[in-house]
Amino acid sequence: MDRLKYLLSPIKIRNMELANRVVMPPMGTGLGNDDATVSEALLAYIRRQAKSGAGLVVSEITAVHPSGSVSPTHLGAYDDRFIPGLRKYAGAVHEAGGKAAMQLHHGGRESFFLLMQGEAIGPSAIPSVVYRQPPREMTLKEIHEIIDSFGRAARRAREAGFDAVEVHGAHGYLLTQFLSALSNQRQDEYGGSFDNRARFVIEVLEAVRKSVGNDFPISLRLSAEECIKGGYTVEDIQTILPRLVNAGADIIHASLGTHGTPAGITSAPAEYEPGFNVWRAKKIKEVISVPVITVGRFTDPALADEVIARGEADMVAFGRQQLADPDYLIKAKEGRTNDIRICIACNQGCIERLMLEPGSSVRCAINPETGQELIYPRTLASTRRKVWVIGGGPAGLTAAYEAARIGHTVSLFEKEEKAGGQIFYASKAPYKEVYDAWIQWLIFQVQAIGVEVKTHTLVTETMLDEEQPEAVILATGAEKIIPPIPGIDLPLVCDAFQILGDEVKPLRNVVIIGGGMIGMETADFLIDKGCAVTVVELLPRSPVKKFASHGYMLHKRLRDGGGRLLLGTEVVAIREDSVVVVSEERGEEVLPAEQVVIAVGTRPRNELKEALSERNIRHFVVGDASGPRRIIEATEEGARAAWDI
Ligand SMILES: Cc1cc2nc3c(=O)[nH]c(=O)nc-3n(C[C@H](O)[C@H](O)[C@H](O)COP(=O)(O)OP(=O)(O)OC[C@H]3O[C@@H](n4cnc5c(N)ncnc54)[C@H](O)[C@@H]3O)c2cc1C
Ligand SMILES: Cc1cc2nc3c(=O)[nH]c(=O)nc-3n(C[C@H](O)[C@H](O)[C@H](O)COP(=O)(O)O)c2cc1C
Repeated sequence: MDRLKYLLSPIKIRNMELANRVVMPPMGTGLGNDDATVSEALLAYIRRQAKSGAGLVVSEITAVHPSGSVSPTHLGAYDDRFIPGLRKYAGAVHEAGGKAAMQLHHGGRESFFLLMQGEAIGPSAIPSVVYRQPPREMTLKEIHEIIDSFGRAARRAREAGFDAVEVHGAHGYLLTQFLSALSNQRQDEYGGSFDNRARFVIEVLEAVRKSVGNDFPISLRLSAEECIKGGYTVEDIQTILPRLVNAGADIIHASLGTHGTPAGITSAPAEYEPGFNVWRAKKIKEVISVPVITVGRFTDPALADEVIARGEADMVAFGRQQLADPDYLIKAKEGRTNDIRICIACNQGCIERLMLEPGSSVRCAINPETGQELIYPRTLASTRRKVWVIGGGPAGLTAAYEAARIGHTVSLFEKEEKAGGQIFYASKAPYKEVYDAWIQWLIFQVQAIGVEVKTHTLVTETMLDEEQPEAVILATGAEKIIPPIPGIDLPLVCDAFQILGDEVKPLRNVVIIGGGMIGMETADFLIDKGCAVTVVELLPRSPVKKFASHGYMLHKRLRDGGGRLLLGTEVVAIREDSVVVVSEERGEEVLPAEQVVIAVGTRPRNELKEALSERNIRHFVVGDASGPRRIIEATEEGARAAWDI
């Protein structure tokens, strides 16, 4: 059969024969032990991930030198004591039939914890956009020491049974710091012209080649472009590529962006189309003939197959898709594409969790197994119970699926005509159709696994008395808050749910009260429809953070669309054609408005909790019903409740 013919064709690079052209790219997990060794949790994770059948699995960042570590759990390869753990890691990939590459990494100035100790180093003492703390400029001796440490770590990778190494030259870490004029202002032979700035990378490759020998493949991961003002471009990279290949690179892994790139483009949000970065791989292929890996928002193996068929890249990496559904490739091979849980690129459980929540480990907002492999139940529950799940949002649907998967008899009740909960509204703003696709997938899976889904059914206390479920998962979500502002009942007032749900037609000049996620999404929706929008927010700082990819995009579109965000501003009254606001900075103002949209948040809806307690029915309150938050909390709590029944 010709399905995925190009993607599934083998490829040989030096002595490494890959069964196919699918790559699991390096993804940090935070699952390592605190002494930088490989943990049981990490092994369980990688064993599961490798089952995807990717031909090449690249490990997460592995530090070549203690001065390059970015967190205590960051795997190490700077001492022989790491070899036994790394051997198990490579073995886990081999068990699944894949080949393993170890990613050799030095964080340079992008190490918050070393910056805090005053121990981070970099080519120049220039602070990063993210951490705003300068590293110490490396001496020439240190430069040589770090180059050697790449070689030594590569030797350990080989000894540990890895089939290849990948030198991490991307994303703003030490090698990119040398390449970039924004972080490298050295006056010696490692600074100045682009050629000089490439010297460090070249010498690292040479050291690695010397250490691993001629038969062992070396991949070089590069940010093909920095994607930041004043950063280098793919045309710049083209000029040094032949020298990088000569120095030892057998594969170019063409990523993009640095830590400071707006919107976290390296793990791009849903605004970027699957395969949006392929053109850069193509540019790289113009000047060299070694295989090139493309990466960026791939979710569909068929698209990857086309990219290879067109000769635009030789291999394709699936990062977050792999976390969302490690079986995606198996399903695609079997033609079960509708069964694939497509990544929504929310970054909540993966990259943003790791970056923004120190000490955390990887998860996936839509796949409760990822990162929890050690506790994820794989056998049926010892007692099959009659379980009710009340509420068909993300929490309830996940709970119902998980409870049925482990053998319980599950009924799910949803008061509305359709399940989906707030995702019905959350998916209405621009670029959020993927959320709808996900929730429809989940609804389908819940039905397919045998859950009895009763929509249009409001669960009442009488029902509980009559049917006597053995366990109840209360996932009744949240309901909107209507603030007691004078004028709230005037005809120009509606709420965000009415606007997003198409119940109320948007007018031209709109004031939105509330600048949280719902308010900002509603603003995005309205701007897209051509409305003039002002968002009024009581807090002095926006609750929607710009350092999160989606948050950044929301703020950017509000600004680009001519919208305004008034922070530290309270709405004190609504009038027939305006809103009266007060702020410390500007005093009282009257904002003209044809329409006023309430988006001041939601509160938990869990009135059945008391009834369940009174009846001594075992129950769990999950998701927004326990406190309005996000999808990741909803799915995680839903799954955990199902596992704990
Ligand atoms: C506009 C908007 C944008 C958002 N954007 C994002 C985002 O980008 N990222 C993110 O993480 N989160 C986002 N959220 C929040 C996210 O949607 C919620 O956190 C999530 O849906 C909570 O899931 P849940 O299952 O706990 O509750 P809900 O989604 O509220 O689902 C609860 C369900 O229970 C049903 N129900 C209630 N009472 C009963 C009863 N007695 N009997 C039967 N059924 C009942 C309700 O009808 C509802 O379908 C957004 C929310 C909105 C409104
Ligand atoms: C949780 C997470 C951790 C990552 N860690 C690394 C890493 O250790 N090394 C690296 O080069 N890239 C890392 N990346 C970037 C990915 O390898 C990949 O390039 C990026 O996610 C884009 O691919 P995708 O759109 O298919 O997810 C990470 C991404 C995620 C989501």
